[in-house]
Amino acid sequence: MKKNITEEVLSDDEFMDIVTPILENSEFYKRKKWQHHEHSSLYEHSLAVSYLTYKICKKRGWNYKDGAIAGLLHDFYNKPWQENLDEKKPFFKQHGFVHAGEALANSRKYFPQYMNKRIENSIVRHMFPLNIIPPKYKEGWVITYADKVLSLDVLIDVKAWPKYLGLARFTNKVKSFFKRK
Ligand SMILES: [Fe+2]
Ligand SMILES: [Fe+2]
Repeated sequence: MKKNITEEVLSDDEFMDIVTPILENSEFYKRKKWQHHEHSSLYEHSLAVSYLTYKICKKRGWNYKDGAIAGLLHDFYNKPWQENLDEKKPFFKQHGFVHAGEALANSRKYFPQYMNKRIENSIVRHMFPLNIIPPKYKEGWVITYADKVLSLDVLIDVKAWPKYLGLARFTNKVKSFFKRK
């Protein structure tokens, strides 16, 4: 799949009909300015996961509408996590462990009209296997897959690994280690 899928996405009328009401919501739109990974905003990442999930589910005859919506909302967490890396938190309270629960709570709050068991489960279980309970529905499995495939860019920069592993305090140590080499 092409990395920049914007044009392909925007010209897919069926997909856009499903996701546009969420994309245009002001609370969701804020995420356009939130850095999520090294090269993408949260808005872009969520849209990419949603579209890949939609395509896979449609091809397989699964519920592509629920897949698209859950994919779009899977990371609908509370605040830009990369701006709060210095905040001291217990390991299991780090972003990687808690943001799926935040995404579910926010999805229920801002988009109650879309919620059903499949969508809710797919959002809250998307961090499997980091969060150890797996998704219950096929569409949820597709989201965990799409999310990981589309997040591979975080592996390219070794210096960024600590923060993705919930070990932001080691970032400077890793950076100076690579400077020495
Ligand atoms: Fe996530
Ligand atoms: Fe994600």
